[in-house]
Amino acid sequence: MGGGVKKVYTYAEAAQHNGRQKCWIVIGGKVYDVTKFLEDHPGGDDVILSSTGKDATNDFEDVGHSSTARAMMDEFYIGDIDTATIPTKVKYTPPNQPHYNQDKTPQFIIKLLQLLVPLLILGAAVGIRFYTKPASA
Ligand code: HEM
Repeated sequence: MGGGVKKVYTYAEAAQHNGRQKCWIVIGGKVYDVTKFLEDHPGGDDVILSSTGKDATNDFEDVGHSSTARAMMDEFYIGDIDTATIPTKVKYTPPNQPHYNQDKTPQFIIKLLQLLVPLLILGAAVGIRFYTKPASA
């Protein structure tokens, strides 16, 4: 117990503490042991429990916690998350958006082809018919 030196946890390790017996939450890359705070939390224990096992930063921020609430967090701070082990933010947004953007060009070309190919086939059919008619008639 040297004081000052906090542990670094993997995301998976923190996520395992997701019950009333052991309840850790991850906010802004920091790990908070709120087990003893569950009953006292003004927002109730259920909301905190549903924010376990994941990065709770958005949940916490969405509530718009007061500066009083933020000051209380120090008390429960037990360490940091090894950021390389956080699956959420890094994997969520960036891959999704580029994929949509990248897909737009092929999708546009596919739409164009879906319009053009039938027209070409129709054109070819009409053409063939037109050119074969005099021969067969
Ligand atoms: C160490 C972490 C947390 C602390 C110290 C904390 C503290 C507090 C405090 C003091 C309040 C009273 C209102 C205020 O002062 O803003 C509050 C309300 C609330 N908190 Fe937390 N909170 C924590 C984590 C969370 C998490 C992870 C959630 C998940 C969604 C959450 C959801 C809420 C909700 C829904 C309210 C009720 C707001 C209302 O009734 O108007 N809190 N919290």
